[in-house]
Amino acid sequence: MTADSAEKRVAELCQQIDHHNYLYYIRDQIEVPDAEYDRLMQELQDLEHQYPQLITSESPTQRVGSTPLTAFSEVQHEQPMLSLGNVFTEQDLIDFDQRVQDRLGKQDSERSMESLEYVCEPKLDGVAVSLLYRDGKLVRGATRGDGSQGEDITQNVRTISTIPLQLQGDGYPQTLEVRGELFIAKSTFEAINADALKHDQKPFVNPRNAASGSLRQLDPRITAKRNLEIYVYAAGWFEDGELADTHYQRLMQLHQWGLRTNPEIKKVQGVAECQAYYEEIGKKRDDLPYEIDGVVYKLNSIELQDQVGFISRAPRWATAHKFPAQEELTTLLDVEFQVGRTGAITPVARLEPVFVGGVTISNATLHNMDEIKRLDLHIGDSVIVRRAGDVIPKVVQVVKERRPSVTTEITMPDKCPICESEVLRDEEGIIYRCNAGLYCAAQRKESIKHFASRKALDIQGLGDKIVEQLCALDLLQSIADLYQLKSEQLVELEGFGEKSANKLTAAIEASKQTTLPKFIFGLGIREVGETTAKQLANQFGTLDAIQNADQESLEQTPEIGPIVAAHITHFFHDSHNRAVIEGLLAAGIVWPDIEVSVVSEGVFNGLVFVVTGKLEQMSREDAKQKIESLGGKVSGSVSAKTDYLLAGEKAGSKLAKAEALGVKILDEDQFIELANIL
Ligand code: IVH
Repeated sequence: MTADSAEKRVAELCQQIDHHNYLYYIRDQIEVPDAEYDRLMQELQDLEHQYPQLITSESPTQRVGSTPLTAFSEVQHEQPMLSLGNVFTEQDLIDFDQRVQDRLGKQDSERSMESLEYVCEPKLDGVAVSLLYRDGKLVRGATRGDGSQGEDITQNVRTISTIPLQLQGDGYPQTLEVRGELFIAKSTFEAINADALKHDQKPFVNPRNAASGSLRQLDPRITAKRNLEIYVYAAGWFEDGELADTHYQRLMQLHQWGLRTNPEIKKVQGVAECQAYYEEIGKKRDDLPYEIDGVVYKLNSIELQDQVGFISRAPRWATAHKFPAQEELTTLLDVEFQVGRTGAITPVARLEPVFVGGVTISNATLHNMDEIKRLDLHIGDSVIVRRAGDVIPKVVQVVKERRPSVTTEITMPDKCPICESEVLRDEEGIIYRCNAGLYCAAQRKESIKHFASRKALDIQGLGDKIVEQLCALDLLQSIADLYQLKSEQLVELEGFGEKSANKLTAAIEASKQTTLPKFIFGLGIREVGETTAKQLANQFGTLDAIQNADQESLEQTPEIGPIVAAHITHFFHDSHNRAVIEGLLAAGIVWPDIEVSVVSEGVFNGLVFVVTGKLEQMSREDAKQKIESLGGKVSGSVSAKTDYLLAGEKAGSKLAKAEALGVKILDEDQFIELANIL
């Protein structure tokens, strides 16, 4: 290839790759399979290697720089980066709108006639960023700093795949500054923290800290690994060109030029619709893949925005409507130790009650003693607690500056707080356990709750509170005693009448018709969850066979390793457990026979499968195990070696790739038929 044609090809490749990135990140579409994209990237890298003079800073190969900075340099914002005022209640919102109308000089008579148009947006809880484009090329990224002066983080923002290095299309001003929020998705945050813990590093307190910590890295190679994302929320300063005259249309323009805007953004009329938006987003909040701390309302017309103006550092034409905080400060009053179903002893924080995440909490989990050590937590400390969504509240940080002069250290008791048996540390040294098994009242109680739970015997109406009462009255010594309960005994319970007592005994009676997997799961064998219980049932077919299986044959079961196998044999060798099982069977618990699928063994011998998308009738894990149990192999990515792609709902790039490579595609029903599962 001549240098001339190489130059043309490099430009073409840059343009094509940018286009595919745009489709992928901005439009949620794909035009070519991953493999094709990888080939384009490879070709570009090869050409640039051969002709280094053709490398431009906008080339998609040049996102991650390799020279760490020694410090960030300062950036003067051409137009200050403002903050927002807040409203907390519907009345505050109405007042805000009134003030805007006042500023616009609206007469009382006009107000009810014609409401103002607002744009509603989620308020992302991340880090504000300014991106500067000249002639469509990203030339600078900066933090907000104090609003007038920020830090130059160009090297780092260049690594973020959702930020285009080159704008798409045309019509953008020659100089265009764009503002947005950088954030880390909830799932990425979990992964970063899991990794930090694995490497004995300190995890981040929340996704916002993770985002800002990742951005403050002087070495862009670290930032590149953190998977930061962006949603842009405004056009800032611009020169030599025009932008639309409403905020909403401007966002549409930014989107067209390849900048990522939030799909939840909505144009509304008047404050009643603003309030409705706030409530709607509030309901969605836990399901959104990123953290938000409220919504933002902005007057749509730029002309009206200019008329309304600013107050000190915030616009008068926009405001943030905050959700109740998810983090609050409180005091650790005490630590108690709870004994779980398997005897694991968990420290639980007793807190000065505090309103957080929409509810008042007075307890939070502390997981284990390592966590207490990591937090350097003492009784009496001021702590930050966090409750996001339905998640159990958590102590995330100690505020050392507020530590009182006298605090108490937290130590694990050496006797079980319930039955006073000896407490032992498990092999890894992290979990402490009461070894008394069902002799321990706490473990007994928890094992009954587990047995009655939905995925086990599903005894309707037998909630935790009732189990606790029954245990307190000594009516239940083991799960088998459930089937001896009489309505006359139940009527004695708090809140019970004859009707409810009869209803519960009927539910207990009905639970006798179950399935073998549910029964096995309900026994509460350590490390035997729902899936393992199903596998045991499928592999062995009968309870007898499972009870008598030795370590070796248990390990033949998919996904069961030596540790789980040991827990299973240990459980069934225990005479108390055997007696409980006999009691249950004597009470009349039955299940339909299971056909062990020997006929189809090996039908997938030597075949390579890839599983993708959402399956309806089984989990992906179940499907993988089925494939392996029938002699097939499961691979993570589609290639020419793949024989079948099992594609569920919303299968994405793997499906496209399989189609491109001519790999056979099975939907779930076809797979079930082929594997002869039913
Ligand atoms: S607009 C002129 N829109 O909230 C208005 N800000 O408290 C300037 N934020 O520093 C901001 N989502 O980092 C705006 N959709 C959104 C936002 C948003 C998050 C952050 C932003 C800003 C802070 C203001």
